[in-house]
Amino acid sequence: MNSSNGRPDRGGEVNGMDLGGMSAKDKQILIFSFYRDAELRGARLLFNLIGHLKGADAQLRMSRHLADETRHAWLWTKRISDLGGAPVMIDDGYQRRLGLRTGVPKSIIDLLALTVVVEERARSRYEAHAALPDVDPETREVLKAVTEDETWHLAWIEREMRELARAQGEEQQADAALERYRTIDREVYATLAADEAEMMRA
Ligand SMILES: [Fe+2]
Ligand SMILES: [Fe+2]
Repeated sequence: MNSSNGRPDRGGEVNGMDLGGMSAKDKQILIFSFYRDAELRGARLLFNLIGHLKGADAQLRMSRHLADETRHAWLWTKRISDLGGAPVMIDDGYQRRLGLRTGVPKSIIDLLALTVVVEERARSRYEAHAALPDVDPETREVLKAVTEDETWHLAWIEREMRELARAQGEEQQADAALERYRTIDREVYATLAADEAEMMRA
């Protein structure tokens, strides 16, 4: 597998950084930077959606959802800052790799389906991290807060997608979009999973 900059990916190396040679603190800063990057890119996905969902209820939820994602990015930024570090710019993270494979969503149903899959991945990443035995209390607190939010995000976006698909007679297209994006997500995440596991062991 080649990374987007054409350099062959090697085990234990992310964005040109050698994980094996990193301190525990630097590994933490890097994994939080990955989370921060995914939250910021998730927020951008919602910015694309917010103008398309016209209903009052959808606008209310979407606004809160967007506020959550930017707050999540801030919580990870604050964790990094509290560790005495600065966010690492991630140019080859999960959402970037995902976007290269999915292309630009062509309909609102596609955009909602992609958001569902991104939310599922966010929640499962955070749950996997929280399941580790030696997570410090401050990180555990952030993981708990963001996981709770991802759970309601996932529920309402999936419901919104299904309601819209039913109204447009496009339920099959919604299922097909979800299946397609989930397949791509699994393949993309597999390229990051080993490196993330190494970072979480910090
Ligand atoms: Fe989030
Ligand atoms: Fe979310």
